[in-house]
Amino acid sequence: MSDEKILSIVKKIYRFTLSVFIIIFTLFLSTIYYYNDPTLSLLIPKEEKNITSSKSVQQKNAGIIQDGIHLETGLIEGEGLMLVVQNCTSCHSAKMITQNRANKEGWRSMIKWMQQTQNLWDLGENEEKIIDYLSTNYPPQKKGRRATLTNIEWYNLD
Ligand code: HEC
Repeated sequence: MSDEKILSIVKKIYRFTLSVFIIIFTLFLSTIYYYNDPTLSLLIPKEEKNITSSKSVQQKNAGIIQDGIHLETGLIEGEGLMLVVQNCTSCHSAKMITQNRANKEGWRSMIKWMQQTQNLWDLGENEEKIIDYLSTNYPPQKKGRRATLTNIEWYNLD
């Protein structure tokens, strides 16, 4: 065998081994990555993530309204309902809202409190619409458990 031939064989073997190593190394890295991030979330572009989150919003939008109540959340039907469903039910259940009552200022300050302490996002121009919805449908309760009794006939104890 000529030196040239030997050299070319050695080169071939070298290239082959190198490719095998690269393949094994790549597989190794992918396996480690997959192990740490099984959903491959880092590889999915952000836009696609938004699509999935807006999908869940759409699912909420598809909610049925029965007897003036949005079934999925229990919120009262009204103007701005969907804004509230979209912005206010991802961190906690809508019960937080339905169990509370306040005027505009009260709702405004609850929203401000969540923005300052709970990472609630800036609601932009929707804030007024949301506050309108909340103060209209969940206003401060004016009456107590029952209306005060009137026309009572008092009688004297003997
Ligand atoms: C980023 C997450 C987040 C979003 C979005 C959010 N909240 Fe909250 N909210 C919280 C947390 C956290 C609490 C405190 C929960 C607790 O006390 O267990 C809270 C509490 C509340 C309370 C109870 C406040 C109190 O004084 O007891 C109300 C009412 C409320 N949220 C209404 C809303 C409304 C209306 C929206 C939509 C504008 C909204 N939330 C959106 C995180 C959020």
